[in-house]
Amino acid sequence: MDQVHIKASREYDVLIGPGLIKRVGELTAQAVKPCKAAVITDDTVEGLYGKLVLESLKAAGFAPCLWSFPHGEQSKTMRTLSSALEWLGEMEISRSDLVVALGGGVPGDLAGFAAAVFNRGTRFIQIPTTLLAAVDSSVGGKTAVDLAAGKNLAGAFHQPEMVICDTEVMAGLPPELIRDGSAEMIKYGILEDAALFDAMRIGTWKNDIESSIARCVVIKRDYVMDDERDMGKRQFLNLGHTFGHAVEKCSNFTITHGQGVAIGMVMAAKAAGMDASAIEAACRSCGLPTASPYPASQLAEAALRDKKRRGGKITLVLPEAIGKCFLKTVDVAELPEYFAKGTGEAI
Ligand code: GLY
Repeated sequence: MDQVHIKASREYDVLIGPGLIKRVGELTAQAVKPCKAAVITDDTVEGLYGKLVLESLKAAGFAPCLWSFPHGEQSKTMRTLSSALEWLGEMEISRSDLVVALGGGVPGDLAGFAAAVFNRGTRFIQIPTTLLAAVDSSVGGKTAVDLAAGKNLAGAFHQPEMVICDTEVMAGLPPELIRDGSAEMIKYGILEDAALFDAMRIGTWKNDIESSIARCVVIKRDYVMDDERDMGKRQFLNLGHTFGHAVEKCSNFTITHGQGVAIGMVMAAKAAGMDASAIEAACRSCGLPTASPYPASQLAEAALRDKKRRGGKITLVLPEAIGKCFLKTVDVAELPEYFAKGTGEAI
């Protein structure tokens, strides 16, 4: 088992290894004394792991209960959050009890936000069941729901007590969920680690999923520890996201987050004037798209509503080589030009 220690406003471990979901109770008890454990998940993950997690928590002395909502990004709303909070109230969960966020990015972000605001802050753990959640959203304490005005616009920083990532769960994921997580893994390679990038490009990352996930978590840990509240260095983790979110938005979210990030990373490289062929090759090798189906003008318009826009400015993460990126804050008026370079419409 790999163990990555994170020192943020709260210190916690990310545990990564095979068979951990069956040991959730025993592992949680290492960080939290037995108490009520309110599991929040979606209907798909409930069907797959709900019973297992409840039994494991019970066997370790916790008093568990479970609430689920319909799966999908369309559930990541204030309405679902409100239902989750009412349920926590009905279950008489106190601040010394525990919320368990079980699932991919949507249950993780939503349950984490519920924990952040319930009782003005209740402890929680993350059990990611998708690769994307394992390498990104379960680590670092960002929690949120979407608003009509945009994704993740209502949220809080709230660090978990522990993250438990079962690599057997990851290995058994359907290909589309592996692809989505791969995009974030390629991102870490472009940001920091040419060897990880090559492993993604060649496909050897799958030979040792545990080490590959752990490497991503270590890279993310270092950004989070330097800048927990996303005012500086953590913004690097948005590589591909400004361009990618615009692609997702234009598709009305039929293009997934991982696919959007893949296209966005290629666009960021082109916008920076870098040869994007290696990034395109890595994305293709992971079954991810590399080109936007939408013109730059439409994408730029969508990006102008991005939450990362601050006072008429937007910070782009631009790669200059594999393992080396830089931040560039640009006036929103310049965005169409960057998007045009990104799609190859500007020569
Ligand atoms: N997903 C980007 C971050 O956690 O900052």
